[in-house]
Amino acid sequence: MEKMERTAECGKLTKGDVGRKVSLMGWVHRRRDLGGLIFIDLRDRSGIVQLLFSPEQSAHALARELNREDVIYAHGMVVARSPENINPKLSTGEVEVRVEELKILNRAKTPPFAIDIMDPAQETQELVRLEYRYLDLRRPELQKNFALRHRVCLDIRNFLSERGFYEIETPMLTKSTPEGARDYLVPSRTFPGKFFALPQSPQLFKQLLMIAGFEKYFQIARCFRDEDLRADRQPEFTQLDLEMSFVFDERPITELIEELISFLFEKHLSVRLGLPFPRLSYAEALDRYGSDKPDLRFGLELRDLSSVLTSSEFRIFTETLKSGGVIKGLVLPGGAKYSRSQLTELEKQAQALGAQGLLWAKFTDQGLESPIAKFLNAQIASDLQKAAQAHPGDLVVMIAGERAMTNKVLGALRLELARRERLIPKDRWEFCWVVDFPLFQWDDQEQRLVSEHHPFTSPKASDLELLEREPLKVRANAYDLVLNGVELGGGSIRIHTRELQQKIFDLLGLTREEAEAKFGFFLRALEYGAPPHGGIALGLDRLIMLMAGADSIRDVITFPKTSTAYCPLTGAPMEVSEKQLRELGIKIA
Ligand code: AMO
Repeated sequence: MEKMERTAECGKLTKGDVGRKVSLMGWVHRRRDLGGLIFIDLRDRSGIVQLLFSPEQSAHALARELNREDVIYAHGMVVARSPENINPKLSTGEVEVRVEELKILNRAKTPPFAIDIMDPAQETQELVRLEYRYLDLRRPELQKNFALRHRVCLDIRNFLSERGFYEIETPMLTKSTPEGARDYLVPSRTFPGKFFALPQSPQLFKQLLMIAGFEKYFQIARCFRDEDLRADRQPEFTQLDLEMSFVFDERPITELIEELISFLFEKHLSVRLGLPFPRLSYAEALDRYGSDKPDLRFGLELRDLSSVLTSSEFRIFTETLKSGGVIKGLVLPGGAKYSRSQLTELEKQAQALGAQGLLWAKFTDQGLESPIAKFLNAQIASDLQKAAQAHPGDLVVMIAGERAMTNKVLGALRLELARRERLIPKDRWEFCWVVDFPLFQWDDQEQRLVSEHHPFTSPKASDLELLEREPLKVRANAYDLVLNGVELGGGSIRIHTRELQQKIFDLLGLTREEAEAKFGFFLRALEYGAPPHGGIALGLDRLIMLMAGADSIRDVITFPKTSTAYCPLTGAPMEVSEKQLRELGIKIA
C-alpha cells in the first residue's frame, strides 16, 4: 500500500467525481451485508458516502470485520449508482465508491448509543449522551450546529472589525460583576481566605475599556452564572459583548445589531428580515403579552376586561376592582370545545403560577356558557364578547387580581395554549426590541430596590427628577432584543459620572463602605474623563440555537452541563486533595 493520504471528503463527492480514484478516511457509520456485497456508509466531518465491497476484491474480507465507528482508510473508484439505487436523501446519493484498498486505522468499541439515528428514546439518556459527549458530537446534526457556530462567529468578527471594533479580552479571574445570579468563586492560594469571582459578564471591564479610550470594543466572551438552569441557560455560556463610546441613546446600538443580525440571517439562513425591528415598551409588552420577552409569532393578546365587568355583581370581580386590581383575559379561537376537565387543569396551572383561580366563558351559537353565567347578564355578555373580540365557538379565560400577577399568569397561559393548539408557526422570525424598562424593581424578600438590569444602566434623563421621590417610576435607557419569545440580548446606555453612579448605589441600599469595597475601583475610574458610552450583549448560544433550529442551547455547546450544573463526562465538580485545600487555607465544613 502506498503512503496514505486523504484526497477527498466523503460528503463532497458528486456525479462530477465519477471515474476519479479517491482516498477517504472516516468512521464506519453503518454496515450492510447483502449476500456477497458489503455496503458501508463512511462518515467524516463533511458527510456520508456509500462504499461498496464486492467479493472479488481483496478488501472484502476485511470489510466483513468492520464495526460501527471503526476508523478506516478506503481507496477506490467513484462510480455512478444505477438509477434505482440513487438515494435522494443523501447529498452523495448519486454515487458510491468501489473500494480496492481498505485499512483499519483504529477499532471502536460498540458505542453506548446509536449515532446514526436520533432515537427519541435516547433523549431520556441525556446523562449517557453527555458522559460520551465525544460520540454524541459525532452526529451529523450536531456537527452541523458547530459548523454554523464557527461561520457565524467568523462573520461577527469580520462585520464588527470592518466597523472599527477591536476584539479585546478581559479577565476571567476577577471580582463580582452583578448580573443577578450567584458568582462562581475561585479561592486564592496567595491570599488565603480570599476569592476571585468568575465574571457573570465583562460589564465593568468593557466600561473601563471605554474609559481607557478604545471607543469600540467587542468580545466573544465566556460568562459564568450560578443560577437555576433551563433549556436556554447554562452555568457557563457565551456572549457577543460589545460597547461603544460617544453614544447617548439606543439608536446607534440597536441599528448596528439589526444590521448584523439581518446580515447573518440572510447569509446563513437565506432569510430576509424586515428592518427596523418593531419596538415595544416594557409596559406594553406586559400589558399585551404578559411578558417582557413576547413571542410575536401568534396573537392571543391579553385584553383588559375590567371596564365591561364593573357592572357584574360577581364578588371576585367587585372586590378585585375595589382594591385596584384588574380583570384580564384572552380569547382562544375555537376554544369552546374545551371540556370541564381540561378547564380545571388549566385553572390548576393558573393557580400554580399564583392566581386565585381561573374564570372562563364560552361563546356558542346558543349564547354564553360559564360557571358565572348568572353574574353576566345579556348586556355584560355582549359587551364582554365585544371587548374580548370573541366569536361563537371561542373561549375566553379570565384572571382577576393584581395587575402584575394577572399579566404573568395570562402570559404563561398564552404560551401554553398556543403550544397546545399548535398556533406557533415554524419558520417565522419575529424580532422585537423591548424598551423603556423600569430602572428598579422592588425586592419583597430583601425589602429594597434592585436593578432591573444592572446598576450601571442610566436612567432616562426625563425621569431623573423621580429618582429620589418615586424611584419605581424611573425608566431606564435599556433595551432587550427578543426573538420568538427568547431573550436574545440586553444592553443599555451607561452611567458615566461618579455622582450619578454613587446615587444609584445609594438607592440600591449599598452603604458608602460597601460601594467602596465592591466598586471603589470603578467609581474612581469614572472620575477620570469617562466618555458617554453604551453597549449590549447577545446570548451567542441562544442565537446559534435559534438559527440552527435546535431546542436547547446544549445542542450548540460542545460540553454542556446538566440541569444540576454537573459534567457527566469529566465528573466535575469534584473533591480536591487535602493538600490543595491546605494550600488554599480552606476547610470543608
Ligand atoms: P444580560 O444579563 O441580559 O446582560 O445577558 C445578555 C444575554 O446573555 C444571555 N444569557 C444567557 N445565555 C445562556 N445561559 C445563561 N445562563 C444566560 N444568561 C444570560 C441572554 C441575555 O440576553 N452585561 C449585560 C449586557 C450589557 O448591558 O451590555 C448582560 O450581561 O441571551
